Amino acid sequence: MKELSKLASAVRASTTIAIDTKFKTLQAEGKDVIGFGLGEPDFDTPEHIKEAGIQAIRDNKTKYTPASGTPAVKKAICQRLKEDWGLDYETTQVTVNAGAKHILYVALKTLVNPGDEVILPAPYWVSYYELIKMVGGVPVVVDTTEESGFKMSADQLRAAITPKTKALIFNNPSNPTGMMYSKEQQEAIAKVCVEADLYVIADEIYGKLTFDGKTFTSFASLGEDVKARTILVNGVSKTYAMTGWRIGFAAADQKIIKIMTNYLSHCISGTSPISQAAAVEAFAGSQAEIETMRATFEERRNYLYERMNKIPGVHAVRSEATFYMMMSMEDLVGKTLYGVEIKDADDFSDVFLDKGGVAVVPCTGFGAPYFTRWSFAVSMETIKEGLDRLEKFLAGAGVE
Ligand SMILES: Cc1ncc(COP(=O)(O)O)c(C=O)c1O
Repeated sequence: MKELSKLASAVRASTTIAIDTKFKTLQAEGKDVIGFGLGEPDFDTPEHIKEAGIQAIRDNKTKYTPASGTPAVKKAICQRLKEDWGLDYETTQVTVNAGAKHILYVALKTLVNPGDEVILPAPYWVSYYELIKMVGGVPVVVDTTEESGFKMSADQLRAAITPKTKALIFNNPSNPTGMMYSKEQQEAIAKVCVEADLYVIADEIYGKLTFDGKTFTSFASLGEDVKARTILVNGVSKTYAMTGWRIGFAAADQKIIKIMTNYLSHCISGTSPISQAAAVEAFAGSQAEIETMRATFEERRNYLYERMNKIPGVHAVRSEATFYMMMSMEDLVGKTLYGVEIKDADDFSDVFLDKGGVAVVPCTGFGAPYFTRWSFAVSMETIKEGLDRLEKFLAGAGVE
């Protein structure tokens, strides 16, 4: 048989899958294990949004829609972007499809020719790296440190640029670190992007889930020259607890949106009209429940951070947004826990699940090999139990 596609064969399965598969196997065997791996809100989709979806079925909105989304959902997105971040987009500058993940893929497909470099600050969300490869691009990783709050400086960005650099993927606030760039920090980054003529894919899917009274600044709002080169990516998954509805969108220059839409028209057509109708209600209806969810995440973040930092051997990195917190296990590297030599977060997560009964995501595949990611999209009881287990696990291994 002939060889399969080299590009497709090079795509790696998510590194989080190994621990998740093990977690689910143990759970199915009836073992007492708890998990912090979830990348989705544990809340139900708000009632008024669900009702809009149900009504759409009753109204027989069950046919194909335009490939870029219904006029109603694009109008609601434009209104939301204006209200939230002061951004002016026409509906012709928006394309809607089946989740931000797919939108990211098509955005990269639109920008990248084979061999083009795409800058990716680490730690990064695991899918970006593979998505860049999937379109024939070359990921250029810029490492950041805990000391710098896991933020890439303008100088670091400048140093990573070569004649082949086409774009920057700028995920703010960040999965997995939970950090958020200030307006001033973004301005410095934007200046370099304009000078070097880079496109920016600004993934702002966690922009509404910020803590400590901090306000988020959308990258495209930094100026017309910045907006012109930015593909703003967002969706309903995280803000409205709608991961399964599969709605994501891009807002950008009309020429970019046209190419993205052409591409989408051939590989998916529009996404579900039922989901689009629900998204109209999400974007245009009451926003009150976002604050309830955000405040709950902040309460959990506070507890997780305070308590984790009292546990010897590890420390937490205080997240400023999202529903993730990084835990450093660097001090355990080189130690032996329950007979296992700990070389990185993969080893730690494996033995923590085996002996501690807790699944956390190793950030080895996120470009941060000595950190684990804890999602606090779980109940406070689970968080408490997880930390009790962490304490016991480390004390039992002799880490005091
Ligand atoms: C940073 C980031 N971008 C995009 C996505 C994908 O979102 P969607 O559900 O809209 O595909 C995720 C989901 O985990 C994410 O963490």
